[in-house]
Amino acid sequence: MSQLSLDKSKIRFLLLEGVHKNAIGVLSSNGYTNIDYLHTALDEDALIEKIRNVHFVGIRSRTKINERVLQAADKLIAIGCFCIGTNQVNLRAAMAKGIPVFNAPHSNTRSVAELVLAETILLLRGIPEKNALVHRGGWSKSAEGSFEARGKTLGIVGYGNIGSQLSVLAEALGMHVIYYDAITKLPLGNARQLGTLDELLAQADVVSLHVPEIASTENMMGAKQFATMKSGSIFINAARGSCVDIDALAAALESKQLGGASIDVFPKEPKANDEEFLSPLRRFDNVILTPHIGGSTLEAQANIGLEVAEKFVRYSDTGATLSAVNFPEVAVPLLAGKHRLLHIHKNIPGVLSAINGIFAENGFNISAQSLMTNDAVGYLVMDVDVDYSTVVLHKLQEIDGTIWARVLY
Ligand code: NAI
Repeated sequence: MSQLSLDKSKIRFLLLEGVHKNAIGVLSSNGYTNIDYLHTALDEDALIEKIRNVHFVGIRSRTKINERVLQAADKLIAIGCFCIGTNQVNLRAAMAKGIPVFNAPHSNTRSVAELVLAETILLLRGIPEKNALVHRGGWSKSAEGSFEARGKTLGIVGYGNIGSQLSVLAEALGMHVIYYDAITKLPLGNARQLGTLDELLAQADVVSLHVPEIASTENMMGAKQFATMKSGSIFINAARGSCVDIDALAAALESKQLGGASIDVFPKEPKANDEEFLSPLRRFDNVILTPHIGGSTLEAQANIGLEVAEKFVRYSDTGATLSAVNFPEVAVPLLAGKHRLLHIHKNIPGVLSAINGIFAENGFNISAQSLMTNDAVGYLVMDVDVDYSTVVLHKLQEIDGTIWARVLY
């Protein structure tokens, strides 16, 4: 990889999918003005064409950065996912090319928790079906099947950032909160942790999923789990589509085992707004279907725009990789009058001593050095006393296992 120019105007940013313009504000106020901003996602071929000369790319959930795209991205330095999830990026392939991936893990958690609370109230009152009926000219004025949320039991599966915020909001409404998590979590308020998912399913009037998309959560809600839930209870999923067997959910709604549901995420979601959404759940009036917008509020987008753009600036200015999702995390404070070198290499023995050997041979004093490794790569940030020499840089690039080496300033 060629040396990064110190002229910030030459560092090219490609921001896709209409990421919040706060990102442009942060970049430009830090001197990064070479920004190509698009409102849409790009398909694979268009992205390959566009990404060739780009140093930083910002995406949301619809742009797929796979190995083929990465191969074309010769100059790419970092990827920013202006969202929570990062499974639209091949993280291992990016790491192997020495490209850190950043995201904004918690900027929209409040938005999801608020929506789930609202859906809980609407579903307990049977509002989705009543709303659909009245839209069609019908009228069904009855208290039958309508309940207050107060005094009902909310079962939260996954008591992390979103689950725990929901717990607090639900208690404020007078709900009883129980939760199940893979690890022991300190309860907030009067919430109670249960030992198994089945116990939770058997006790809750409303079950809401807030787990990550990992092997242990794939189809964690299937026919058996829906059968374990209380008859007429409510199911909400604003976590990830892969966590629920949608056909089993449709069957549980058909048989009236469930009284209603609210689903924001699906195993297969349309790639663009003009693509038809196909799902066996479309036919149920008592199901709220939303197009993966649980975290989509202007407040959350604004926070995400700031958070990811700031991570880009920190990485570009200082080499800091704090909170990168696929990369060793290093952050070294800037030292006045020093020169900073970055070196990314395969995590094999002997690289650090080879690097230090080059500095010793050339009589360069290292003022600061920070190395972090993971199972595959090592990331080294070094500050040296004197102007780097191209000879040293070339020697660093030739060390066995080097992915790239460059001078930051
Ligand atoms: P988090 O990482 O803070 O919390 C997840 C919790 O799930 C952790 O406490 C973890 O221990 C627990 N967990 C992991 N595996 C489990 C298992 N097998 N069984 C039970 N618990 C398990 O995540 P956060 O930020 O609360 O997000 C939760 C979910 O919401 C994620 O899937 C995320 O992708 C999704 N999300 C969806 C949005 C939307 O627009 N619908 C927006 C934001 C997040």
